[in-house]
Amino acid sequence: FVIDWTPDMAEKGGYDHFMLKEIHEQPKAVKNTIREASEIKKIVQSFPKFNRICFVACGTSYHASLIGKYLFENLVGISTDVTLASEFEYSAETLDENTLVIVITQSGETADTLKALRLVNHKAKTLAIVNVVGSTVTREAEYVVYTRAGPEIGVAATKTYISQLTSIYLLAICMSGRMELLEKLESIPDHMESILENEDFIKKIACKYKDARDFFFIGRGFSYPTALEGALKLKEITYIHAEGYASGELKHGPLALIDDGVPVVAVVPPGKSHDKTLSNVEEVNARGARVIGLGSSKDEDLRSETRDMIEFDDGIDEIFSAVPYVIPLQLLSYYISVMKGIDPDKPKNLAKCVTVE
Ligand code: G6P
Repeated sequence: FVIDWTPDMAEKGGYDHFMLKEIHEQPKAVKNTIREASEIKKIVQSFPKFNRICFVACGTSYHASLIGKYLFENLVGISTDVTLASEFEYSAETLDENTLVIVITQSGETADTLKALRLVNHKAKTLAIVNVVGSTVTREAEYVVYTRAGPEIGVAATKTYISQLTSIYLLAICMSGRMELLEKLESIPDHMESILENEDFIKKIACKYKDARDFFFIGRGFSYPTALEGALKLKEITYIHAEGYASGELKHGPLALIDDGVPVVAVVPPGKSHDKTLSNVEEVNARGARVIGLGSSKDEDLRSETRDMIEFDDGIDEIFSAVPYVIPLQLLSYYISVMKGIDPDKPKNLAKCVTVE
């Protein structure tokens, strides 16, 4: 019996990089975070009545917050806004005791987010969604919800993002009293597993598009933050110019940049936003874009508009689609990064935790 693993490989659980290991840990991260449901229910029961929610975060955590906005407005019916932590000090004036400020930060140490939390200064209630137990933010927020992603080493956030989304779903489910949705959330890890089993297909797509100069990612509603996150991942670890756009905004500018061969990744799950995004896909197609579509395996309309189609189970509810649909985008960036000879765990100029403003 010969062990041919180096200590470094053992740390990465046999994967080539921490990022790939962490992408594969995502179904488990969702399951572990769902175990916080009863804790979250207790927190929600102790809430006073809120009439406004204000999310504050940076980077990938900001994208999780955007999903929070759609969720709280649709499910809980509370007016919700989202502010970048670095912009918060310019808009903190209207807070009152009926507002819940939710800061999201995997590290619990990001300087901009910490500053924003301190600026609230008891003018409103504060809740932090954090992955690192005992981090500074957990000591300063009134309520704390832990994501149970486990330690994340790769600079580009993956499993902490998925866990933040899970915590937001749990909060919205508890605040709306729609406990029947918990069962649907619990079925999401199975859908995630089947996407991870399809990894070789994403690797082939990565190989096909790795030399592109620009990428566009589009989506509407719950899929708009997914488009932003897909573009951010690509920028972070492949250094390719990428833009995430709300599909409806294409006609207000970026359409001018769509030329022959430009890859457009379209996030088009079944649901309310489907038909309109599909018509945006037709528009970019007419201008020669190479469309990579993410949608239901039964969506023949989308398939006929795409060069490459990444398929998902038709039964995934639109409100939860942000969790499984982001996985192929993480993998796409990961494989392009590796094919370009970049270390995806340590992209240039970026840090895991940014402690300067
Ligand atoms: C850095 C990381 C990003 C992360 C952001 C916010 O820029 O490279 O991956 O999304 O900080 O971090 P936080 O710990 O506040 O979630």
